[in-house]
Amino acid sequence: DKGNHRHFMAKEIHEQPEVVGHTLARYIDFTGETTKLPEDLPFDWTKLSRVVICACGTAYLAGLVAKYWFERYARLPVDIDIASEFRYREMPLDKGGLAIMISQSGETADTLAALRYCKGEGQTVASVVNVPESTIARESHVVFPTVAGPEIGVASTKAFTCQLTVLACLALAAGRARGVLSPDDEKTLVHALAEVPRLMAAALRVEPQIEALAKTLAKAPDALYLGRGTSYPLALEGALKLKEISYIHAEGYAAGELKHGPIALIDETMPVIVIAPHDQIFDKTVSNMQEVAARGGRIILITDAKGAEAATVDAAETIVMPSMPATVTPLVYALPIQLLAYHTAVFMGTDVDQPRNLAKSVTVE
Ligand code: F6R
Repeated sequence: DKGNHRHFMAKEIHEQPEVVGHTLARYIDFTGETTKLPEDLPFDWTKLSRVVICACGTAYLAGLVAKYWFERYARLPVDIDIASEFRYREMPLDKGGLAIMISQSGETADTLAALRYCKGEGQTVASVVNVPESTIARESHVVFPTVAGPEIGVASTKAFTCQLTVLACLALAAGRARGVLSPDDEKTLVHALAEVPRLMAAALRVEPQIEALAKTLAKAPDALYLGRGTSYPLALEGALKLKEISYIHAEGYAAGELKHGPIALIDETMPVIVIAPHDQIFDKTVSNMQEVAARGGRIILITDAKGAEAATVDAAETIVMPSMPATVTPLVYALPIQLLAYHTAVFMGTDVDQPRNLAKSVTVE
């Protein structure tokens, strides 16, 4: 049932404030203002020296965001890999390590194979899955469910932000257990997470602006997405969403990589979507935007009010998000990039919920 939406994807984008709220309710103790995980975890955060994360596609990009969080808030190094690469590389793993699989469907063949490899290597396997009765869930030592509800649109939207929600809670729990975060630090970060549903609802208000913008983007043969820090995985996710549903060729890059090659692509016809909340590395991204502007690139800047004011560059369009702590920006900034892909695809007239050549659950290798 699409409700009053034209596509499942639109419905699922709009459901995010609600389902992220449900997911938070499962992993946050709002009265104690702490994260809450099951007490009988089959691993001990304090004994880990690193974590392995494996997944495919959008789930992999959620894992890439989580790497920044685990390393920053828990000082826990993360090796993240695309499941199809990981499974054949036969990475040496020290016994007793933790491996986290991320999958909406819980049936992705490569992720399942990565899980089995990790088990064989004596890892404790945790999974972040949306389908609790799935194979990946059943074969894991511990399951951290996302509470996204069924996701019908082939392009993953609400599952992605619910994966981020669970992973953020895991990183904070790890940070607390490992003594990296004080109780006050944890409280501050939990408060920030608790605000996400409200921030997402506010972020959705840019939809009319994005719809108008999508009309021009639909005419572009290519698009480039740039971001730094946790906005880098989001740039990759923005490009993935756009190409899979609108069939426009798109690439995501770490903004700092621009001068190492992709800058050669920039001319007056190239839309460059820059994801840059006003955070510690904002100024660095501004220099990258200046490089783009100097070559006539058409900048679409997604930032907050402070960033919009501080960006000393001529952007063709600025999409202003509410202001929020840096920790939660990937959750909220996911929405404008989903909306941009969605409306562009609608203008192109593609089959948004069932894009060509794609299946919701990739059970073949
Ligand atoms: C992109 C998308 C895919 C999936 C990938 C993994 O929008 O939906 O990239 O994220 O196929 O699927 P799951 O999460 O079911 O393992």
